[in-house]
Amino acid sequence: MVVRDGVVAAVVEAADVASGARVVDADGCVVAPGLVDLHAHLRQPGREEAETVESGARAAALGGYTAVIAMPNTEPSIDSAAAVREVLDLGAGACCDVRVAGAITKDRAGEQLAPLGEMAALGVRMFTDDGAGVQDARLMRRALEYASALGVLLAQHCEDAELAEGGHMHEGEWSSRLGIPGIPVEAESMMVARDVALAQLTGAPVHFMHLSTAMAIAMVRAAKAARVPVTAEAAPHHFTLTDDAVSSYDPVFKVNPPLRPAADVAAVKAALADGTIDAIATDHAPHPQEAKELPFDQAPPGMLGLETALALGLTELDLPLEQVLALLSWQPARIAGLAGQHGGPIAEGAPANLTVIDPAAVWVVEPGRLASRSRNTPYAGRKLTGRVRHTLLRGEPVVVDGEAQR
Ligand code: DOR
Repeated sequence: MVVRDGVVAAVVEAADVASGARVVDADGCVVAPGLVDLHAHLRQPGREEAETVESGARAAALGGYTAVIAMPNTEPSIDSAAAVREVLDLGAGACCDVRVAGAITKDRAGEQLAPLGEMAALGVRMFTDDGAGVQDARLMRRALEYASALGVLLAQHCEDAELAEGGHMHEGEWSSRLGIPGIPVEAESMMVARDVALAQLTGAPVHFMHLSTAMAIAMVRAAKAARVPVTAEAAPHHFTLTDDAVSSYDPVFKVNPPLRPAADVAAVKAALADGTIDAIATDHAPHPQEAKELPFDQAPPGMLGLETALALGLTELDLPLEQVLALLSWQPARIAGLAGQHGGPIAEGAPANLTVIDPAAVWVVEPGRLASRSRNTPYAGRKLTGRVRHTLLRGEPVVVDGEAQR
């Protein structure tokens, strides 16, 4: 493959190397469109001790991503044009394209609509109050009508706050045994049911974030069959870990939505295989060590994801490589409104946003070697197959041989 001036110049196996050209070896590797993450918490502004846009983008590039969408649950929230501009400026020159999701409501408080129009004017294509769902159905309906007029997408953190109140893990056998208050499956599925209805009412698309339960997935499957405009994502931890991990009382396994029992994990895998879930999104949620050393009920929920998502998909999903890449690259690119810039197809003249993957490389997750500022990966010591070798952003090698170049 030949890349020139930021675009793919020729799709060939081996090319005569022009003098002065830089050569990166891709022997035994797959050259794929760069991955696109719909869901990353980059923590800026306000929680730079956990992550910065720069460190998060570096972790993303090492994980094979050429674009990530930064979540708005920062301090303050990204709920205005000024806040969007600040994060976009922080992302200029980072290791991957940093796009921003704006908040649906002011300060993500669920009470008043945020100025979606002024954020959309800056190129924001996705809005969410992630970390919390929009509880008020009437407000969500108005937000969908507004989003529809603007041609932007609302993404929902599916959680009924009242049902989930006080819970710290999945409500079931393990929460009873451990004496930790649980969050019932219905906290997720009730909001999915409501938003399927609102998508149908308004005709506006809804994207369901980090789905974790068989019940919610069945609702999305039925909605798609009825041609309601919905899409969905799942996070790697929801197809690789189960709620019994919480028996260690280690807050590294605390996440929201919580880890679920094996039957839900199987449902997530089946939905990734049959297209009910359109994308794998990391929900990369860095937290400082001190916070994750608090007792389980006081520790914040969240897990790192950017540097392990591809390898987890390749190792743990019984799917062909191309299908895993569809879930990580071109399908999320389409949902994010980034098609044409990210997610391929790799063709002459297309932007050279590429990841070079060694599908046979075996490696062990070592938290201390991750590029994220935080260390809260639940996969420490786990052996994975498949690794990013190089990442190119607009033709620039930002990762070479597994090392970040910026
Ligand atoms: O586990 C989670 N962590 N779930 C969320 O929805 C928010 C996230 C965070 O920001 O830490």
